[in-house]
Amino acid sequence: MDGQNAYWDGEVEGLARDALESLQEERFMATLRRAAASPFYHEKLKAAGLDLRAIRGLQDITKLPFTTKADLRAYYPDGFLCVPKEKLVRLHVSSGTTGQATAVYYTKRDVDTWAHLMARCMYMTGARPGDVFQNMTGYGLFTGGLGFHYGGELLGMLTIPSGPGNSKRQLQLMRDFGTTVVHVIPSYALRFMDFLMEQGVDPKKDLSLKIMYMGAEPYSEEVRRRVEAFYGVKAYNSYGLSEMNGPGVAFECSAQQGMHLWEDAYILEVVDPETGEPVPDGVVGELVLTTIHREGMPLLRYRTKDLTSVVKGTCSCGRVHRRIARIQGRSDDMFIIKGVNIFPIQVEQVLMAIPEVGANYRILLKRERDVDEMVVQVEVTDRAFIEDMRHLNRLREKIVHELKNELLVTPFVELIEPNGLPKEEGKAVRLIDLRGGGVRASTPFV
Ligand code: COA
Ligand code: AMP
Ligand code: ZN
Repeated sequence: MDGQNAYWDGEVEGLARDALESLQEERFMATLRRAAASPFYHEKLKAAGLDLRAIRGLQDITKLPFTTKADLRAYYPDGFLCVPKEKLVRLHVSSGTTGQATAVYYTKRDVDTWAHLMARCMYMTGARPGDVFQNMTGYGLFTGGLGFHYGGELLGMLTIPSGPGNSKRQLQLMRDFGTTVVHVIPSYALRFMDFLMEQGVDPKKDLSLKIMYMGAEPYSEEVRRRVEAFYGVKAYNSYGLSEMNGPGVAFECSAQQGMHLWEDAYILEVVDPETGEPVPDGVVGELVLTTIHREGMPLLRYRTKDLTSVVKGTCSCGRVHRRIARIQGRSDDMFIIKGVNIFPIQVEQVLMAIPEVGANYRILLKRERDVDEMVVQVEVTDRAFIEDMRHLNRLREKIVHELKNELLVTPFVELIEPNGLPKEEGKAVRLIDLRGGGVRASTPFV
């Protein structure tokens, strides 16, 4: 069988459910023993008064405490490591200066495992050796770039590390090398669509695209349909997060009915974000993941803050790895723009370090003609306000520059007179997302 449902790794993808669960159990117990050697888990388990002998198998996983992003920040840069540093070959660090940053390390085996998971994802959708794969997302510290890149090469595709931006060059590469498969952030797929229309390019006639992977930020079923119709491709949802390697955690198969979460590498739980208690299949809650196939930096019961549900029933493709529905949003205040994750506190830290900035600010997220923009409205101090226009322009440019350095995306900055922003009763509203149903998930399931 070499159709779209063919397995890249038949031994694991084709397992029966009970065999998969035995494999999980074995890997989970081994992970626990290894994780306990890291400074963080050593202290955390001790503080929780938990004797690991009380964990006899997967059924006891809920006895373990959760791990959070705050823990990763507190034990930055290396408090989660449980192998000697000489065994590490890769490091990805989230954006954000000290205090907000998180670090994820990989051993050689971890990099190989990740590439293997990614190759499996892409093979599942019909990508094959001979395909030309253009990877249009961020390389560098973003995990999307290298994650897909290693997977594409392992699968045997001709892999083009085009990275994000420069639409003209992207189009030229597609034409010159006959790109058939692309990985792209959904908001950029829309932006690139406008660019192609302006250039008078009809991808169905003028290009060779057939498969598109879209992830890294929430988007709706309507966006998928628009993208598929315009580009003449099948578009597949791709989910991952740096704390769990990066992409390759869950991915759609050709049935496009939810994303298979690779349960030989991760234990899947969905919990009520308030109580932390499990919710039934089909009910939306927060995704909690445990790595069971990672060597350098295992994470136990990590609170992803992503809201989703387990899709009920079995998939027509035959894989028994359970599926999660399209991500609906977050249970914290992180927002994603142009594929970049931002916490409002990062914006605040930058602004408050600038003396001319007053007490109040707010962030507006907008979409104008399919282009997402972040507008930061900033009140200036009385003293700065009476300065001349040139001075204020320089201040505006300085704020843009400092924010871009911290956040990686370029904001529009509007300077506002002192007390010029609306005052709310109670807690200040710092973030207003006006992007509507476009890239935001408007379809809760699948
Ligand atoms: N993916 C790819 N290209 C993007 C993009 C995205 N998400 N968002 C914008 N771009 C393109 C723009 O089209 C523009 O190119 P063009 O003028 O030739 O068409 C160029 O990047 C700059 O756009 P601008 O809006 O000025 O970008 P910015 O300075 O605000 O942000 C980016 C800079 C694009 C480099 C940054 O947003 C980025 O790296 N995004 C990708 C993040 C990513 O890959 N995440 C994956 C995580 S796994
Ligand atoms: P990062 O750690 O930078 O890779 O970002 C991971 C976060 O991006 C996740 O926790 C999600 O909030 C978001 N994300 C990744 N993939 C998707 C997707 N397919 N749909 C919605 N959100 C996604
Ligand atoms: Zn399937």
